[in-house]
Amino acid sequence: MKNVNILGISGSLRTDSTNTLILKTLADFFPDHITFQIFEGLDAIPHFSPGLPENEAVIKFKTAIRKADGVIICTPEYAFGMPGTLKNALDWTVSTGDLNDKPVSAISASPLNTGGDKALASLLLTLTALGILRNDASSLSIPNIKLKINDLRQIADMPTLNALEAQCTNLLKIIR
Ligand SMILES: Cc1cc2nc3c(=O)[nH]c(=O)nc-3n(C[C@H](O)[C@H](O)[C@H](O)COP(=O)(O)O)c2cc1C
Repeated sequence: MKNVNILGISGSLRTDSTNTLILKTLADFFPDHITFQIFEGLDAIPHFSPGLPENEAVIKFKTAIRKADGVIICTPEYAFGMPGTLKNALDWTVSTGDLNDKPVSAISASPLNTGGDKALASLLLTLTALGILRNDASSLSIPNIKLKINDLRQIADMPTLNALEAQCTNLLKIIR
């Protein structure tokens, strides 16, 4: 069976990020022939400006996307939108089309009961501009995330785990 590479991108830079924890949880849902890696280095990406040369951090980001058969982005919401760090990184991919035709799953999680839905909407708008491949099941917003994490820092809410597994299954379906 062909090896499949999935790239996880967290919109949060926090060490104790709930969104990064969600991405780490996804690793359990992929079969053995799937390689799942979470990108590290979003904070090293410089502010995007057209014409600015790509530095090592930008090249690392774009290479990781190009090598991936599919991408899962999990993001918090800041001030009703996706974090600037994530938007900035995605802006670097516009001119080179790294996400064009790439299967992408988009997830937002928030301690509020809105689930970061406005961050998700802003992320999906940008991903549409970038030409990603998705279907109606390719996004998920998770409300009250802090109530769904136990003392061992595990996601302990079965409906949330089922919804996350469904994101993985759906992404693999689109890749195939
Ligand atoms: C400056 C700031 C603005 C925020 N704005 C929102 C918001 O608009 N909507 C929301 O649901 N949560 C908001 N939050 C709460 C974040 O969702 C929360 O801190 C979350 O845990 C961050 O994600 P992480 O755990 O992955 O780092 C905000 C937090 C900060 C610090």
